Amino acid sequence: TLTPGTRSRKAIYYGTFIHSRTITNLDIITQGAIGVDDSGKIAFVERNVESPEKLFLNFPEWVGVRVFQTPKDGFFFPGLIDTHIHASQYPNAGLFGSTTLLDWLTTYTFPTESSFSDLTFAGTVYNRIVNRTLSHGTTTASYYTTIHVPATNLLSEICHKKGQRAFIGRVCMDVNCPDYYGDESVSMAMANTKDTIEYIKSIDPDYRVVSPIVTPRFAVTCSGDMMSELGKLAKQENIPIQTHVSENEYEIDFVNKSFPKSGSYTNVYDDHGLLTPRTILSHAVHLSEEELKLIKSRRTGLSHCPVSNSALGSGVARVRDWVDEGVNVGLGTDVSGGYSPSILEAARQALLVSRILAQREGVERYKLSIAEVLWFATRGGARVVGLEGKVGGFEVGMEWDAVLVGLGGVDGAGEGVLDSEGEEVVVGDEQGLTIGGVDLFGWQGDWEDRVAKWVYAGDERNNLGVWVGGRLVYEKERQGVERLVR
Ligand code: GUN
Ligand code: FE
Repeated sequence: TLTPGTRSRKAIYYGTFIHSRTITNLDIITQGAIGVDDSGKIAFVERNVESPEKLFLNFPEWVGVRVFQTPKDGFFFPGLIDTHIHASQYPNAGLFGSTTLLDWLTTYTFPTESSFSDLTFAGTVYNRIVNRTLSHGTTTASYYTTIHVPATNLLSEICHKKGQRAFIGRVCMDVNCPDYYGDESVSMAMANTKDTIEYIKSIDPDYRVVSPIVTPRFAVTCSGDMMSELGKLAKQENIPIQTHVSENEYEIDFVNKSFPKSGSYTNVYDDHGLLTPRTILSHAVHLSEEELKLIKSRRTGLSHCPVSNSALGSGVARVRDWVDEGVNVGLGTDVSGGYSPSILEAARQALLVSRILAQREGVERYKLSIAEVLWFATRGGARVVGLEGKVGGFEVGMEWDAVLVGLGGVDGAGEGVLDSEGEEVVVGDEQGLTIGGVDLFGWQGDWEDRVAKWVYAGDERNNLGVWVGGRLVYEKERQGVERLVR
């Protein structure tokens, strides 16, 4: 088997590639070949290549590099982008009872986040969540941590070491907080946030893998002064911003009462310099038309978190309206408002809740398509986190951030990934069954069908390998046992 992270990044990937061409259109490349250079970027994309050997006739200088070949029914897909996830809430995944946002925060979330003052506990949780999201194919994540600087720095280090592209946001909250958890003052919040930015600069000066992101939690727990200072800091440092908006009706009420002059929740952020082209706003379930127009005019991105919106009973976001307005949309797991660390699950739930909305309102066009949610999971997400043109698709010059999806099936198993150095990663057991994930048994159809089966019935057990910038960061071992990258 391959040893993740240790070898040269130069390689040829051969077989089937699927990525978004436009928001409504998937590009399915069979008999394709993608060359990735030593820097981890795509050097060429070739179509209709009968075999890797035929490729070498046109690319003689690539003879001898490793070749990864997709197994039968397998395909390379761009790495998934999680535009909103709380790394610190991972221990609570699946726990929310019958709470909604505000009592969920005080019952489950703040107590758990406060325990990240313990760096050993933080290290355990952060290692697990990064391993887990990598296994689900998340190659880029925008993380919230907690208020703690050492634990936040530790997550930056873990992502950097494991090779997951990450935005790391130390949570800022200075008003309406419990007595045991929160920023003591605006100046302390600023000083601590700056410390986490300086730490990332010390380990990754060009933000190649890890980047800081300014993170005022939400307008309920942030003073106007702190929000303004954070807006200035983001501008000064030229770094992105993330926060929550219009998630829950009680929350919206609270914000409108706290900032009566602003006129809307979205305007509160605008009034404090936080609504920028590099801002990620999560949830946005109950936006007014005026708020959506303001978001569009600021070129701010939206993170759709359908799993969380259903779990916490926040509501169903009108994603079709966002798309029609021309706003950039990505997907977020929102662990642990969302119970799953999987962006594939977020894509699936985006499809399902759009169907409920369509039925409830009697508006057929509210239904999202598979192509659309996969766009949100890749190219849309890339735009939202400011990495458009760098990740989210397979084009020359882009980073090789990719997931190898194996749909196994009876004939596909046991074939494995071919490595031209003579090593083979075998997929599935001897009986010819892959373990878990989608089973294509009894089915005959085209690649569109395969994609539908993957989106609706697949899971992380279908992920055979995950690459970030040409570096293998996750690999599924035979017999379904995962050896996670350390
Ligand atoms: N609003 C403020 N904080 C949070 C949080 O941690 N999760 C969610 N879903 N919404 C929030
Ligand atoms: Fe959240």
